[in-house]
Amino acid sequence: MLGIETSCDETSAAVVRGTPDSPVMESLVILSQDVHRLFGGVVPEIASRQHLTGIVPTVTAALGDAGVELADIDAIAVTHAPGLVGALLVGTSYAKALGFARGIPVVPVHHLEGHLFATLLEERDAVPPFTALLVSGGHTLLLDVPAWGEYRLLGGTRDDAAGEAFDKTGKLLGLPYPGGRPVEELARTSDGGAFRFSRPMVRSNAQPGDDDYYDLSFSGLKTAVLTAVRECERAGTLDAARAAIANAFQGAVIDTLVEKVDRARRAFDRSRIVLGGGVACNRALQEAMRRRFATRGGAVFAPSPRLATDNAAMIAAAGLFRFAAGERADPTMTAHASLPLPGILSHVS
Ligand code: KG4
Ligand code: ZN
Repeated sequence: MLGIETSCDETSAAVVRGTPDSPVMESLVILSQDVHRLFGGVVPEIASRQHLTGIVPTVTAALGDAGVELADIDAIAVTHAPGLVGALLVGTSYAKALGFARGIPVVPVHHLEGHLFATLLEERDAVPPFTALLVSGGHTLLLDVPAWGEYRLLGGTRDDAAGEAFDKTGKLLGLPYPGGRPVEELARTSDGGAFRFSRPMVRSNAQPGDDDYYDLSFSGLKTAVLTAVRECERAGTLDAARAAIANAFQGAVIDTLVEKVDRARRAFDRSRIVLGGGVACNRALQEAMRRRFATRGGAVFAPSPRLATDNAAMIAAAGLFRFAAGERADPTMTAHASLPLPGILSHVS
């Protein structure tokens, strides 16, 4: 399976073989578009143009690294949604043209389903049933996954994505974009000191069925960080307080995410937790999840940074599953900026 991912600011291609339950990664090439750092965020038009120039060399390198040729490829899996539509179109158009010219079937893959398969490339036990938390710059989703292709959407963010909260906090603290890793590194040098931000939507008397039971919200936390930064600026103490603010912010995000995952895990009696998305790289988050669930016989799976962030190997792995299920793109297949995850189960409990 040749995987192609161009939904945001990574041009990526990979070759994966095997079965849906045990995919083997033969190669993975990720061309990160560093140009967006200059703008402090992804510029869609620039992203599309960079995908256009990057796609052919990226696919060529992925085939070369895997030691295969196009003639050896059985199918092409491509991200068709969700994401920046111009960026996605480069991948879908390229995959369709390649498939048509070479007689290779094309399988459309939902980007978030890709994130659910990422961990499986490294951990054979990261298979359903499990509780999944997808946390990246663009999405924050809590899911129950009884089987591949069956997804219970439990909750999501009502405002900012978890990664966005890290990026905005990083910006307020004068750190480079994207802020996730710099905030984590700075947070490690402090214990939070006098700072403590309230944990959003974690009332201890919340019950399943309450509308905030699984949902998340980070905009209030962002405002709390902003207020703390302003106060320190006025008092001339910001330099000394930056690490403590980073630590207190990260602690509030982690406590909230761990609590929500615990609620989902208990509701469906799951022993496996699968994390995905860029924020899943956060070591403090992984450790907090393991601390909470290890004593309860739970196993926490988090992909390595290369597979946690956007990449084509996870798209190829999800593609193996969709291909085995008989799914094929027809010539009208196109890119969608937003599209629900396929296989959403209608009732939550
Ligand atoms: O999955 P990803 O590469 O792209 C999206 O689909 O958004 O995630 C990028 C996000 C950024 O917001 C970045 O700040 C965050 O993941 N991130 C982290 C860490 N590494 C990346 N957040 C917290 N801690 C990290 N170590
Ligand atoms: Zn993503």
